[in-house]
Amino acid sequence: MRISVVGCGYLGAVHAACMAELGHDVVGIDVDEHKVAELSAGRPPFFEPGLPEVLARGVASGRLRFTSDMAEAAGARVHFVAVGTPQTAGSHAADLRYVDAAVTGLLPHLGDGDLVVGKSTVPVGTAARLADLVRDSSPADLAWNPEFLREGFAVADTLSPDRFVYGVRPGPEGDRATGLLDEVYATPLTSGMPRIVTDYATAELVKVSANAFLATKISFINAMAEIAEATGADVTQLADAIGHDARIGRRFLNAGLGFGGGCLPKDIRAFQARADELGLDSLAFLADVDAVNLRRRQRVVDLAGELVGTVEGAQVAVLGVAFKPDSDDVRDSPALDVARSLHEQGALVTVFDPEATETARRVAPELRYAADVDEALTGADVVLVLTEWAQFRALDPASVAGLVRGRRIVDGRNVLDASTWRAAGFEFRGLGRP
Ligand code: UDX
Repeated sequence: MRISVVGCGYLGAVHAACMAELGHDVVGIDVDEHKVAELSAGRPPFFEPGLPEVLARGVASGRLRFTSDMAEAAGARVHFVAVGTPQTAGSHAADLRYVDAAVTGLLPHLGDGDLVVGKSTVPVGTAARLADLVRDSSPADLAWNPEFLREGFAVADTLSPDRFVYGVRPGPEGDRATGLLDEVYATPLTSGMPRIVTDYATAELVKVSANAFLATKISFINAMAEIAEATGADVTQLADAIGHDARIGRRFLNAGLGFGGGCLPKDIRAFQARADELGLDSLAFLADVDAVNLRRRQRVVDLAGELVGTVEGAQVAVLGVAFKPDSDDVRDSPALDVARSLHEQGALVTVFDPEATETARRVAPELRYAADVDEALTGADVVLVLTEWAQFRALDPASVAGLVRGRRIVDGRNVLDASTWRAAGFEFRGLGRP
């Protein structure tokens, strides 16, 4: 099938490449000429494991191309909208200008029977509004098909997601939209992937409620970490123990520096803002979820201060600035926030991240960036492990001891073995652990 994908960021570039991998004929469209040039050359403009391979295969096969010209969407039957919905400056609401521009930009190029498919995360009510716009101004229809991909696993999550959700218009038009989406996803569907067909509002809510649930789960365990810190308990053992209850489950119960990235923080804020608009108090608890999450960042700053005495003038090695491992994304990164706070308090912060140095340097040029982990560690008064890259989990305390000036370490992600580090002479602090 011929497919267009509007927006080639973390979501759209992966979606376009994966649709070509499924055998479709795909054009990816983005306003950023540089991004289009990179993608056309088979080079992803960001780090994502597995993406270089699918992108290169798609481009080489001729099934995948990129352009900045919206007119090239003409002739495709399904048009995915995968642009960003950032937080609006000065408010918690989602900024819909890119989604609106993408759909409006597609209108003149839509043919009879085409389907516009929203993938972006939007406030409930957006799809119905855009569906009316598409129906009134073109011969096409609209469906909402939220994306659940995780950065770092984006290719696998797109090719074989946990589930498909299609939000469609009720009646025969919705059945037609469902049929088209089934054609697009024929390969994963034949392997038994669940698919749930809903109205527009439910599909939009599935996405934001999933993210709200995940954020709440993380903040729940981080709230337990605060209690553990006050009582001498160990939150990692607590998580293991409650995680054995199948109703709770161990996943997303890792206490530490908390959640960040381009989705969870802004999505829970936008969801609350939408509930407020609807006059509902139902999501008031998400303010606490957000607050617990942000307090963890301050806790790490405080622990570093406690260990060195005075932050001003202290040499701080920050290992990891990406919001999570296997990503170069620093949007709302807890690690970058901690690094910046310490820098603002006068610490001499040196950052090392295996992939996110360049993205971090663009937004935080005031920090020093080391070329490798040894350079970051050399002369440090305190080491902070803030993103759990495999490379940092595998650090050898004896080698680190040979490079630093003071044997002090904060494990912001609870991935290091405290007893090994203490045995090597380190003062060790975790989050919610003795
Ligand atoms: C998230 C959702 O998982 C995905 O379904 C949605 O489509 C987009 O948002 P992503 O932002 O890629 O995906 O990251 P995710 O793996 O969910 O992690 C989010 C943040 O939570 C990271 O900062 C991570 O470090 C943190 N986290 C995760 C924890 O602090 N503890 C955990 O146990 C799990």
